[in-house]
Amino acid sequence: MIAGESAICGVDAVHGLRYYGYGIEELGPKIPFEDVAWLLLHGELPSESAKKQFATELAESAPLPDGMIKILKSLPKGTRAMDELRTGVSALSAFDPDVGHYDHEANLRKSTRLIARMTSVTTAEWRIRQGKEPEIKANLPLAARFLFELSGKKPHDYRVRALDTVLNLYAEHEFNASTFAARVTASTLADMYSAVVAAIGALEGPLHGGANEQAMLMLREIGSADKAEAWVKGRLTRREKIMGFGHRVYKKGDSRVPVMRNLLAEIGKRVGQTNWLEICLELDRVMEAEKGLFANLDLYAAPVLMLLEIPTELNTPLFACGRIAGWCAHVTEQQDHNRIIRPRSIYTGPGPREIA
Ligand code: COA
Repeated sequence: MIAGESAICGVDAVHGLRYYGYGIEELGPKIPFEDVAWLLLHGELPSESAKKQFATELAESAPLPDGMIKILKSLPKGTRAMDELRTGVSALSAFDPDVGHYDHEANLRKSTRLIARMTSVTTAEWRIRQGKEPEIKANLPLAARFLFELSGKKPHDYRVRALDTVLNLYAEHEFNASTFAARVTASTLADMYSAVVAAIGALEGPLHGGANEQAMLMLREIGSADKAEAWVKGRLTRREKIMGFGHRVYKKGDSRVPVMRNLLAEIGKRVGQTNWLEICLELDRVMEAEKGLFANLDLYAAPVLMLLEIPTELNTPLFACGRIAGWCAHVTEQQDHNRIIRPRSIYTGPGPREIA
C-alpha cells in the first residue's frame, strides 16, 4: 500500500535498498555512521569540512544534562531497556531549546542532538543498571563511543567498523512502522521529540525492531545447527512465528542480508565462533523449504551484536540508535512540505440503526 512520497530512500526488487540513490551494499561497510546520518539529513554525502563540523556538533551534544541523569537514575530497577529509552528521549525534549520550532534549521539542530543523545541515553541507562556512573566519551566517533561507554574499554578498530556497518544498515528503510509513526505524528505539527517517542514505541514490538532481541534468544535456545530443523518444524506446526524471517516488502530476500551475513562470517571467524552463522544458514534453508520465507536483517544482526559484546537487552535500543537518523530525516522532510496524514478506513460495522 502506498502511503506517501519521500526522496530519502527507495526499496525495490531490482536495486535493493538505496539512501538518496546510494546502494546499501556500498554505503553499509564503507563509511562511518556519521556520514550516512549526514546523507540522510542533507541528501548528499558530507564534504571534509561538513564532516568536521558535524563531528564537533555531535561531540558538543553527546553529554547528558545533569537533570537527565537524575531522571534515568530515578527509574525503578527492572525497567525494560526500550521503556528507559522512550522515557529518556521524552525527557530530553525538556532540555532542548529548539523544542516547539519545526522550521528546517531547528529540525536539523534537533536531529543532531537526538542522534548524539540516543546513544548517550542507551549507554547511560545500561551503566546505571550495572551500578556504574554514566561515562560519555563525547569526542569519539559514535560507534566507538557506544562500545567504549558500555564496556569501559577502548574497542578494537574492527569492532568499530562492524558497528558502523550495523548502524548504517539500520539507519533507514522508507515507510516502516516506526518511521511511519514518526511521520504521522510530525504531520500534526507536533515536535520532533514527540515524533521520535512515537517511533520508539512502534519499534519496540517484536514484529518490528524487537525482532533482533527475540532472534538472539531464539538462536541461543536452538544452540547448534543440527537442532535448527526440528526446532523450526516444531514451531511451525504450532503456527508460531520464527523471529528474523519474513518481510512486508521483501518477498524474495532482504537486500540488507548479504552485507550482514558477510559481517557475521568475518567477525565469527575472528573471534572463533562460526556456529552462529551455521545456525542462521540452516534456519534460512529450512524456512525457505518449509514456508518460502527468507531471513530479514534482524536474524543476522542479532549474533553480530552478540559477538560485539552488546548485551541482548540492548539490541533494539541499538537499532534505535541507527534508525534515529532516518526518523529525523523523515520528520524534517514531512514538516518541510507538510500535509496532515489522515488515512481513511473501510467501514465493516453494522448498517445505520437507532437506539431501541
Ligand atoms: N514465521 C512463520 N510464519 C511467518 C513468518 C515468520 N517469521 N512471517 C510470515 N509468516 C507467515 C504468515 O503467518 C502468513 O501465513 P498464512 O498465509 O498461513 O497466514 C504468511 O507467512 C505470509 O505472511 P506475510 O503476509 O508475508 O507477512 P506480513 O507481511 O504480514 O508480516 C512480518 C511481515 C515481518 C511482520 C512477518 O514476516 C513477521 O512477523 N516476521 C517475524 C518478525 C520479524 O522478524 N520482524 C522483523 C521484520 S524486518
